[in-house]
Amino acid sequence: MTVRDERTGSAPAPTGPVSTIDYSERIPNNVNLAGDRRLQRALESWQPKFLDWWRTLGPALPTKDVYLRTAIAVGRDGWAHFDHVPMEEYRWGIFLAEQNPERTVAFGKHKGEPAWQEVPGEYRAELMRLITVQGDTEPASVEQQRVLGNTAPSLYDLRNLFQVNVEEGRHLWAMVYLLQAYFGREGREEAEQLLKRNSGDLDSPRILGAFNEETTDWLQFFMFTYFTDRDGKYQLGTLKESAFDPLARTCEFMLKEEAHHMFVGTTGVQRTVERTAELMVQHKTADILEHGGIPLTVIQKYLNFQFSVSMDLFGSEQSTNVAAYYTGGLKGRWQETRRKDDHELKDATYRVRLVRDGKIVEEDVPALTALNLDLRDEYVADCENGVRRWNQALEDAGLEERLYLPHEGFNRRVGTFAEHFVSPDGELLSKAEWQGKAVGWLPNDDDRAAVAALMVPHYDLGDFAGWIAPPQTGINDQPVEFDYVHLREEALA
Ligand SMILES: [Fe+2]
Ligand SMILES: [Fe+2]
Repeated sequence: MTVRDERTGSAPAPTGPVSTIDYSERIPNNVNLAGDRRLQRALESWQPKFLDWWRTLGPALPTKDVYLRTAIAVGRDGWAHFDHVPMEEYRWGIFLAEQNPERTVAFGKHKGEPAWQEVPGEYRAELMRLITVQGDTEPASVEQQRVLGNTAPSLYDLRNLFQVNVEEGRHLWAMVYLLQAYFGREGREEAEQLLKRNSGDLDSPRILGAFNEETTDWLQFFMFTYFTDRDGKYQLGTLKESAFDPLARTCEFMLKEEAHHMFVGTTGVQRTVERTAELMVQHKTADILEHGGIPLTVIQKYLNFQFSVSMDLFGSEQSTNVAAYYTGGLKGRWQETRRKDDHELKDATYRVRLVRDGKIVEEDVPALTALNLDLRDEYVADCENGVRRWNQALEDAGLEERLYLPHEGFNRRVGTFAEHFVSPDGELLSKAEWQGKAVGWLPNDDDRAAVAALMVPHYDLGDFAGWIAPPQTGINDQPVEFDYVHLREEALA
């Protein structure tokens, strides 16, 4: 799997053959859509609604064209091709990883049976729900990031934002394809709803909490792509193991695109920290706001916030639903096939942390019910990697200060810690104590206003905002000062 390549902007190479994508069709695809007239018609009638949604709730900044990556089968860049394209002409389509006709179910009570090419009646409702929830997050982030283009720190960053946006749009297509192809009329209705719920809408919000928070500024965007897109990576990782083969193949291809979103987050925070460190050394103070940088304490607060809301996306530490998903073969574990156990977990246990008599204690519970935590623990270990890289930048600058991940119980709304008040370093506090200190732990209005004041657009070739270091290299071997985005006149006015 190719989700590790977070250091370069180029597309990861395919790990297996990717069948040819037919771009002569109205909806590019590698699923022989032309061979299924009914489905083709259903998707073609959904397409204008999607475009309408993109025009109303997609990127607000008026652009002529953007240097974007599009998935193809062959070419000098492996599976992807880069070119300047008007965003509304982006070829959103349906791309599934190659089918392995020999594939069998890897876990649960159907282990060893051939993977399902159709939806079994007994799992229909659950599978549709899983696909709908995943699908709901994809357009949500586009909506959350709608106005960020107005304050981009450079054309390079602007291009990366738009690449993430068009790909999240494509991920919506991926889920809508499954709903329409495999779930009949109900699936078509869910596909409509995916465009009707909107991020932050009071009457019909997005399904999950973190996807209704506004992305206020670019630091939050980088934290979002680092922590929240990474949650997406882990959720897709569990669906990639699904016994329902079309879902597994869809998610496998989505993970390849997702690698770039991780790259944007990791390097975006990294470059912010580098610039902060540079200013701290230069001015011999941590208070670098007046020198045009974002103080490390503010970066830590943003990190605390985005990490804790992303932790909530994994659901409760103990859940009988997730046990049923696993046993039924709907959703596996992260890297299921590489794990060395019986893949049924009938007698296995897992250690959970919970609050008992005013203390955080550990307890062994049936592993099947703790699968959300199993996944979340994998995620946290992955999150640590970025923090290590960012701290390396601080160390390289000769600074003592360090960033850290807050305790898993900090600022939680979901799961065993939701009822408790835990400090970032894991201390259990009273509600009043916690609330009194929260202003130092989470971004407050002043912090957000201070960051917002630094968010001034930099649209000249090779120009970068003062709060962020330029990247080492450009996208797809282009220079850093490349014309990644051509703006419309009205964007510059
Ligand atoms: Fe996505
Ligand atoms: Fe993403």
